[in-house]
Amino acid sequence: MSGAEALRPDAVRRLPGRGARGAATLFLSSLFVTSAAAARAADTGLSVLRSSGRQGDAILPLTWGLLILGVVVVVVMAALVGGAILVRWRRGDAQAETRGIAVGGDGRALTWVYSGLALTAAILVVFVWWTISTLAAIDAPGDGPAMTVRIDGHQWWWEVRYAEADGSPGFETANEIHVPVGRPVRFELTTSDVIHTFWVPALGGKMDMIPGQTNQVWLQADRPGVYLGVCNEYCGVQHAHMAIRVIAQPEAEFDAWRKAHAAPAQTPAGAEAAAGQGDFMENCGGCHRVRGTRADGTLGPDLTHLASRQTLAAGMLPNTPENLADWIAHPQKIKPGNLMPDPGLAAGQLDRIHAYLLTLE
Ligand code: CUA
Repeated sequence: MSGAEALRPDAVRRLPGRGARGAATLFLSSLFVTSAAAARAADTGLSVLRSSGRQGDAILPLTWGLLILGVVVVVVMAALVGGAILVRWRRGDAQAETRGIAVGGDGRALTWVYSGLALTAAILVVFVWWTISTLAAIDAPGDGPAMTVRIDGHQWWWEVRYAEADGSPGFETANEIHVPVGRPVRFELTTSDVIHTFWVPALGGKMDMIPGQTNQVWLQADRPGVYLGVCNEYCGVQHAHMAIRVIAQPEAEFDAWRKAHAAPAQTPAGAEAAAGQGDFMENCGGCHRVRGTRADGTLGPDLTHLASRQTLAAGMLPNTPENLADWIAHPQKIKPGNLMPDPGLAAGQLDRIHAYLLTLE
């Protein structure tokens, strides 16, 4: 394989679950949940039939209730229609449909209509009441000291802002949201461009991000692990590549993460990375910030601790050195339409910038 072939975007290792087959697998696996899988820590994928925490746990029974109701209605209606066809066919009453049926002329027929209306209305009232009480339950923060994370939607990534707390200064990161287990977290949701929707199925409901408005949603993860989410409102050609990872950690682990991420970037060791820092300032610093350096751009994600993230390009690629090299060389081939232009830099410059980015732990 030549060097050029090795850098082809389709040679990049993708995360599983993309494409039509991936979507079908995801859908089927979300329907057939085993209790063993559900019991594993936060192994929820994108399934809407698994939950963790106060908000997700409140929504799950309603999801099942509506799913079962829908299936029952379809089965009962199909049985009634099938039964009626069978009865007519047995009677040999082939001309019946041309004569018309006078519903009001037969007392028994009207009883069927009234009973059907009453039953439907009763079921609807029960589900309206259930839905409203679920909405009320997930709107409340829950117990324990809360924390706030601000999320700003961009085409096509998530800006994540932590306010200063417990002596740690505030800071920004992107796409991966760390939270402490068992603590209610208030998400303040805004957008910098179009409407996006913030959705982490296992943790709770969807919430729109609307230009000029701040919405909020409370979420809480009761088990440690990685909870996947997606943008749930069509927001442009890369809408499908706008993934969220909520990483729930025990309190002490979360505090250590927060402290490390509030700190500025370390000065890179090694000649290539140090030279790469200069190349980065010159070519990338207008759009990206690396705290502790001159790079102070705000158009793209904050890269201060890029190397410690799990994925690149909002969940598209695992964060490996190879994928990082491909991403900085060919962002428009990997994610067409995103705001980062193909850099058009010499191979040496790209190598140096790559070496520098790998030091941003
Ligand atoms: Cu952002 Cu769809």
